[in-house]
Amino acid sequence: MKVLVIGSGAREHAITWKFANSNCISALYIAPGNAGTAELGKNLPEIDPMDIEGIVKICREKEIDMVFVGPEGPLAAGLVDRLSAEKIRAIGPKMATAQLESSKAFSKDFMVRNGIPTAFSETFEDYQIFERYLKKKKGSLVLKKNGLAAGKGVYESEDTKNLLAFGKKVLPGDSILVEEFLTGWEISVFALTDGNTYLLLPPCADYKKAEEGDKGLNTGGMGAVCPVPQVTSALWKTIEETIINPTFTGLAKEGLSFSGVLFFGLMITEEGPKLLEYNVRFGDPEAQVLLPLLECDFGNLAEALYKGSLKDFYFEISNDSVLGVVVAAEGYPESCKKGIPVTSLPKQQGNDLMVFHASTGFKEDGTIVTGGGRCFSVVGKGRNILEARTRAYEGAQEVSFRGAWFRKDIGNKFYIVDTAE
Ligand code: AMP
Ligand code: GLY
Repeated sequence: MKVLVIGSGAREHAITWKFANSNCISALYIAPGNAGTAELGKNLPEIDPMDIEGIVKICREKEIDMVFVGPEGPLAAGLVDRLSAEKIRAIGPKMATAQLESSKAFSKDFMVRNGIPTAFSETFEDYQIFERYLKKKKGSLVLKKNGLAAGKGVYESEDTKNLLAFGKKVLPGDSILVEEFLTGWEISVFALTDGNTYLLLPPCADYKKAEEGDKGLNTGGMGAVCPVPQVTSALWKTIEETIINPTFTGLAKEGLSFSGVLFFGLMITEEGPKLLEYNVRFGDPEAQVLLPLLECDFGNLAEALYKGSLKDFYFEISNDSVLGVVVAAEGYPESCKKGIPVTSLPKQQGNDLMVFHASTGFKEDGTIVTGGGRCFSVVGKGRNILEARTRAYEGAQEVSFRGAWFRKDIGNKFYIVDTAE
């Protein structure tokens, strides 16, 4: 099978790595890819993930059998619709279902219609009506820009002035959701689906804030852990019964079923788990800690997802723990310089220590250079979180480029529980 992976991040490097270890792959392409994926397959740097016609054309030229879409942008723009019209197999939802991620208003309505526990919310298109509503409200509120915003569309505050200022930036042009502020702890849950059935993968925790102690600005994710020891089997059962099952029932009822990955962003509150958001793809950095635990041939799994034979597909999830640390560029999550030479990287140690690149490239002399804010995910695997953490941090320390930094507390809140078991 000839496979094309769409994207250039560490998530797509991890997906490519799984395909590269599959026995049923005869050619592996990544569009556009990065310096890490270049070691596993053939990068197509001229192809932008949003260039739908360019992707269709390259699929024809390279006789691609299957396309695996990493990021949300091309899904929301209808890449899978176009590929299926051309009879090219693709993993990921069509545009109609991708609205679960690309429109917060669509996804909130879906949750409410299907009785899925979520934060109370109202949607506004008109600034004056929004302003009147906010002035009557007290306490912390969460504002959400309706459309895709690369993690920058959510704002939380109890200060009406600041909330109004955020609203002014969004309206008009897009609508805005005003949401009840939920307290609790967050997990990311991923389901693989073939359109008929689904399979849950172990829960992940993502570290969204830039600074230690979960302070500072929001980022795309500075690290992740999988599985999360605090998720008991009773909680898992509640999540499945109240959130996952009703979601898949709703998708089937509304003609929105698809082959791919559905991501549930959950807040575990005192009243039980509530759904914050859906994403229609693997998370980043969650994929980097989740995929090393999947013990199966990833090419066969992708085929089962496409063909609708997931029910009969056998695979195991390792009992190990995985922890990922994101090494970022100076200035991230605000503006940062790109193109900085990388002077050292740790050596990959089988599945125990892996380095996934994000948007890295090559200089003419072959030196690897950074290409964005989050530059590498260094991932350790071990028998427990402590072992995984030790490996990941030893690796992260060996990543060297000017201005490189990472959070030092990934996994700390979990490993005391883990080692006490
Ligand atoms: P979302 O894009 O909807 O997942 O929001 C991004 C982040 O904002 C989440 O991961 C939470 O940390 C936070 N957040 C979103 N909605 C709420 C809410 N209703 N209450 C508290 N925090 C929230
Ligand atoms: N880590 C959160 C996301 O991928 O959206």
